[in-house]
Amino acid sequence: MTDSESLKRLFPTEGALPGGQGLAEPLHQRSYLIDGRLQPWDGPCKTVLSPVCTTQADGSVRQVVIGSHPDMGTAQSDAALDAAVAAYDSGRGAWPTMSVTGRITCMRAFAKGMLLRRQAIVSLIMWEIGKSIADSRKEFDRTLEYIEATIDALKDMDNAHSRFTVVENTIGQVRRTPLGVVLCMGPYNYPLNETFCTLIPALLMGNTVVLKPPQYGTLLFEPLLKVFRDAFPPGVVNTVYAPGELVVPRMLASGKINVLALIGSSRVADHLKKQHPKSHRLRAVLGLDAKNAAIVLPDADLALAVRECLLGALTFNGQRCTALKMLIVHRSIVDAFLGRFTAELAQLKIGMPWESGVHITPLPGPHRSAYMTQAIEDAKAQGARVVNEGGGAFCSTLFHPAVVYPVREGMKLYREEQFGPVVPVMAFDEVQEALDYVITSDHGQQVSIFGSDARQIGALVDPLVNQVCRVNINCQCQRGPDVFPFAGRKDSAEGTLSVSDALRAFSIRSMVATRQTEANVQLLNDIVREHHSKFINMGFIL
Ligand code: G3H
Repeated sequence: MTDSESLKRLFPTEGALPGGQGLAEPLHQRSYLIDGRLQPWDGPCKTVLSPVCTTQADGSVRQVVIGSHPDMGTAQSDAALDAAVAAYDSGRGAWPTMSVTGRITCMRAFAKGMLLRRQAIVSLIMWEIGKSIADSRKEFDRTLEYIEATIDALKDMDNAHSRFTVVENTIGQVRRTPLGVVLCMGPYNYPLNETFCTLIPALLMGNTVVLKPPQYGTLLFEPLLKVFRDAFPPGVVNTVYAPGELVVPRMLASGKINVLALIGSSRVADHLKKQHPKSHRLRAVLGLDAKNAAIVLPDADLALAVRECLLGALTFNGQRCTALKMLIVHRSIVDAFLGRFTAELAQLKIGMPWESGVHITPLPGPHRSAYMTQAIEDAKAQGARVVNEGGGAFCSTLFHPAVVYPVREGMKLYREEQFGPVVPVMAFDEVQEALDYVITSDHGQQVSIFGSDARQIGALVDPLVNQVCRVNINCQCQRGPDVFPFAGRKDSAEGTLSVSDALRAFSIRSMVATRQTEANVQLLNDIVREHHSKFINMGFIL
């Protein structure tokens, strides 16, 4: 039986934390990177608690202290922003004017340094956000692959622009150029990967950056500070360790930020965009809320649908923006579906993130268990029930997944993005009801359809592709492969991310043009031959 006591026993006892998991000593970060220098910090610091708890001698549980980091204020965020502005220097800085080959060389040096710190970073991901060690490794490796793939995409893009075009007696050369200063803020669930999905293309395109690590998943950037410092010119990457609500609106209100790259909530994004004094000057690249639904049709392969829905709903405890957050199952199969789903859920291993095969791990804090409980209670008060044994039991940060059925309009779980281990299920009779759920949603990221009737699936795909940005057939929702466009409608995103789309998101086309006269052709040839310009050139990057 799963209850609070049995969950408590899954936490290690105080003093018995496992060795070899990289947390020999807490990491007390006392420096930050601004203008190419690691500045020492002796001001206030914020203690970092792991989602992992230990049981104490008196029977209580307590989150493990894994370190601390600077808790800065506006003076430091101003300095970070000013350093990024100075390094950009109105587009005249060393970085925005560096050749693409030069930038790629710097980025390769960065990737090499990052690889050397793999173990420390993977361990910090695991301890800071409670992601399983296997998934923490995947997050690191996927990020390095993303860097390599982005470099390759940049080479392709630049090579395609290494030529002149002649149209109507006008010679032109078009290239993509940087936008200015980018404020990069990633989410806690993919603190490294999703931060870098904007940071890396922003840098490669010649922008300078202010990086604000997420609220959980902050220390893992510490091993990278020196690598940033050594790989890039001063001021190209600057870090801010401060409460977001204190410094971020202020940075935007300064008018000095050109691109807001945020993976977070639409509420925060809306607020921040409004702070900029000239909103038309601010480009936003946003990954926001989502409430992806799975529609399970009566002729679905039940085993496959259950397997994919389980993975889709509960991988990393449901803490993925792409997670399936509402299962809409045809009434004729809903009992069979629930029976199989709850049986398979019962097999998922709950435990500590370093355990092999673990699936459900602790949440960032007890407040997340409290939110899950509140959402379940709200549904129960309106006629739903938890249909799996032990569902909703919790001990501090460790929460046993709950399958809640039947969920209907008016319940929190119907519309709110639960972002955790609660799986709302509802039944439908007519497919139009399932479609209406997606159409009336404020979210528009992805959807999954499970079924085998080509006519019915085809007919569903057509309206759905105009509601969301990816329709998954017989598989869960997900972002990858990273070369595919990752986008969303309504409150789910602004702009498109992918290996190549992100390079476009952080740049703008600019061109040089002249009349096609003998003198101008001669002039252009001289510039190219003598390498007088980094923009006007016909070099090919291998
Ligand atoms: O949290 C949102 C992530 O971008 C999801 O990525 O589908 O690869 O887990 P994923």
